[in-house]
Amino acid sequence: MDPTTIFAGYLTQVEAALTAQLGGDAPPPEDTLVIAARHLVLSGGKRARPMLVKIFADSLEFEDPRLVTVGMAAELIHAASLLHDDVVDAGMFRRGKPTVNARWGNTVSVLSGDLLLSGGLFELAKADPRLGTLSLATVQEMTRAAIAEVQARGNLSLSLADHRAIGEGKTGSLFGFCGRAVATLAGHEDAGRRFDAFGRRIGVAFQMADDVRDVTGTDEGKPQYADLSSRTPNLPVLLACRNDDKLKKRIDEAWRFGALGVDKVRELGTSVLVSGALDEAIAMMNAELDAAVDVLGEYGRTELGKNLIHWARTLARGMTLKGAA
Ligand code: FPP
Ligand code: MG
Repeated sequence: MDPTTIFAGYLTQVEAALTAQLGGDAPPPEDTLVIAARHLVLSGGKRARPMLVKIFADSLEFEDPRLVTVGMAAELIHAASLLHDDVVDAGMFRRGKPTVNARWGNTVSVLSGDLLLSGGLFELAKADPRLGTLSLATVQEMTRAAIAEVQARGNLSLSLADHRAIGEGKTGSLFGFCGRAVATLAGHEDAGRRFDAFGRRIGVAFQMADDVRDVTGTDEGKPQYADLSSRTPNLPVLLACRNDDKLKKRIDEAWRFGALGVDKVRELGTSVLVSGALDEAIAMMNAELDAAVDVLGEYGRTELGKNLIHWARTLARGMTLKGAA
């Protein structure tokens, strides 16, 4: 069978496992938590984490039925984090649809997230107790990063290192988990360390791309400058403020005292847009991608390992150019 067919076959198996996990083809309509979870999980999404699991496994020429569990569980953990994140951020739209909290309220969103999270962790622990432990540590890290981001709101002096650590915790830790889980099942300790580091850097690049899209307005699911509206110091905003004290003061004053109406946000956003900070942010994202490739070492030089590099570059480039759910 050719590699594309194998890849598509794997993703089809993951989709089937996700559907089975969420009540199968005909879930009872009164099961609100499952119906709400399906609204998010079965409504698209890039399936970046399952894809990553498969590409990591291919690069080790490793096959195992538990890889479907790992991909499915990584997607469940990701979805759970989004259900919680949309409550934290009061997010109203995701993947082109109203969020679960917008439609069913915060209680359903939080509890539906808990259901997905416990389901994913349970399946991983059953597949291999080591995966249970690894994933628990990952969720802890995601949680710490989520609160760090909330605490950083309004802080235009947030260091770039702290901003990076938030991106690594929110997204990189789960990408890294995908690599470590595959390498653990395959019995490759060295690959586990390298895949984890690769995933973490890719996660940071992914978050940087997300920050760039906020300013360029190329995320179809979100209004332009949403981060400025929510007083979230994203990477282009931080870079623009480092280079221009007057702009920093203007944003700071608007964040502290202003009503932050649409016009004010657009005025400040335009200043960030023309400041040159976007180019700097894209350069930083590319540096993360290069460092991710370096850290793969020999695993990035094999024919199959090159797919990891291709996947990462395509994902980040695609995100900076157009919207991605
Ligand atoms: C989306 O970020 C959110 C995340 C990548 C992770 C959020 C993590 C938590 C809420 C901690 C709890 C974790 C679990 C596993 C239950 P974003 O707000 O930058 O992106 P968005 O624009 O898509 O909302
Ligand atoms: Mg959010």
